[in-house]
Amino acid sequence: MVRNGHQVLSNVIASQHDLHAQYGGVVPEIASRAHIEKILPVIDQAMKQANASFDDLSAIAVGNRPGLIGSLLVAVSAAKALAWTRDLPLIGIDHVQSHLYAANLVLPPKEGQPQAIEKKPEIPEGAALGLVVSGGHTSLYRVDSPLDLTLMGRTIDDAVGEAYDKAAVILNAGYPGGPKLDKLAQQGNAKAAAKLPISLLGKESLDFSFSGLKTALLYQVRGQPKGRGREAYFERSASDLDDQTRADMAAAFQEAAIGAVMAKLDRALDQMTAEATPPSRLLVGGGVSANSYLRTQAQAWGERRGIGVCIPPMSLCLDNAAMIGGLAHHCFIQGQFDDLHLPAMATSQF
Ligand code: KG4
Ligand code: ZN
Repeated sequence: MVRNGHQVLSNVIASQHDLHAQYGGVVPEIASRAHIEKILPVIDQAMKQANASFDDLSAIAVGNRPGLIGSLLVAVSAAKALAWTRDLPLIGIDHVQSHLYAANLVLPPKEGQPQAIEKKPEIPEGAALGLVVSGGHTSLYRVDSPLDLTLMGRTIDDAVGEAYDKAAVILNAGYPGGPKLDKLAQQGNAKAAAKLPISLLGKESLDFSFSGLKTALLYQVRGQPKGRGREAYFERSASDLDDQTRADMAAAFQEAAIGAVMAKLDRALDQMTAEATPPSRLLVGGGVSANSYLRTQAQAWGERRGIGVCIPPMSLCLDNAAMIGGLAHHCFIQGQFDDLHLPAMATSQF
């Protein structure tokens, strides 16, 4: 539950990691069934944590795009039922757009800490540069307001989070891949491993590509494939490598993947400056913004380029309901409501 678009009153997340771990990735059917089981307890818990009743609500917001359609359908159906029975406006939110809003939210104080001052974060004038790094997206935006994004560049193949997840499988790092690879890389030294290639695409391109990096890591870990077609095989796997070598390779992967993101930030900043609209700050969002290396690199980039960097606190980096509720406030004040025909959509408009 979010008040006035910035004050988080509750943010309940039902993790499904344990359900998917044995498959090494998200199984859509299992995910949607778990959503059915969890949706009402999660709503109850969010109301309790916020110490609120349904009479305190002014609208029901739901992330209705993009994502796995079965899971989205559960959320959208529950939101419609609540909006209809409580006679409240319904607001469908694009969750990629809301990732860029997460850094504007103020979390509730932790137990035993003094009550947070209800202060709205100051938002500087002018357009911001937005970077979404998640499991499905790696995109750059010009952000003129929370609801006004213009796409500047995007991945042409894998998203950076997806590349992390695959790299974790290649390196036997465990599940969930992104956080496990992050941890493994912290024990490693990128310089001790062979440098991995990054693809910057055309000279002025703001797009991303991570599939070549993924393949380069695969060959480095397993060696060049031998044989052809169905007969092809690798000479070794990650389990033949010692822990330090795997950690060094993880660090080299991370250096290349995040290095590519930083290089594109440079280009995007230069482009906005050349167009006489230098960004007021950099907004970062999406699951990979929880990555320790990305967080330090982005802050260092901001210092080097003289621009403020806003990254959400860890608990608001991964998919969460607070960013949906916060962004919905801006739809609410502009009278942008949906009706009971609101669809669940697998893809984003951004
Ligand atoms: O935004 P998100 O929760 O879901 C999507 O919208 O996709 O992002 C999930 C992605 C996954 O690929 C996950 O592995 C990655 O974010 N991720 C990380 C870290 N934590 C989550 N990647 C690298 N380092 C992390 N610490
Ligand atoms: Zn997300």
